[in-house]
Amino acid sequence: MPDRPLILTGFMGSGKSSVGRVLAESIGCALIDLDALIVAEAGKSINEIFAEKGEAAFRTIESQCLERVLQGGIAVIACGGGVVIAESNRRMMRGQGVVINLTASLPVILARLEGVSDRPLYAGKDAANRVSALMEGREQFYADADIRIDTDNKSVEDVAAEILRFLKGLPN
Ligand code: S3P
Repeated sequence: MPDRPLILTGFMGSGKSSVGRVLAESIGCALIDLDALIVAEAGKSINEIFAEKGEAAFRTIESQCLERVLQGGIAVIACGGGVVIAESNRRMMRGQGVVINLTASLPVILARLEGVSDRPLYAGKDAANRVSALMEGREQFYADADIRIDTDNKSVEDVAAEILRFLKGLPN
């Protein structure tokens, strides 16, 4: 089992936070939710940050928070779906932690996102097409991972168990 940060990446609705909770509990380490940290530090919701400062400002805060939490040793870090966009973030994550990418098919992602209102990139008209385009455009970045796990038709516990099996096979 590696003693570096375990980083969960994946599109909105891929299950990072729920899988992260089970994984952190099984390992007995902290779960750090990067979005929650950003919200706590900014004193504003993600929607407010996007609306008031724009996506670029959000990405800057996201990168700063990521850099900081990666220095904290073993923990499960559940990242926001867009953390993989910046090459410098991907380099930091691959260099300092184990990157576990959760995937799901477009219909499953859309079903899981139905009714959510706290994702600015999902809000408004034409959300399904936007999600589809974003997923496709980011695919190459999500592929930059130590392991990719398909979460379609699997429980959160199944996915966490799959990750644990993979981690046990890794050297320190
Ligand atoms: C985003 C995903 C969100 C959040 C923000 C932007 C993205 O996190 O960081 O709304 O660009 O995909 P989740 O993946 O946890 O929903």
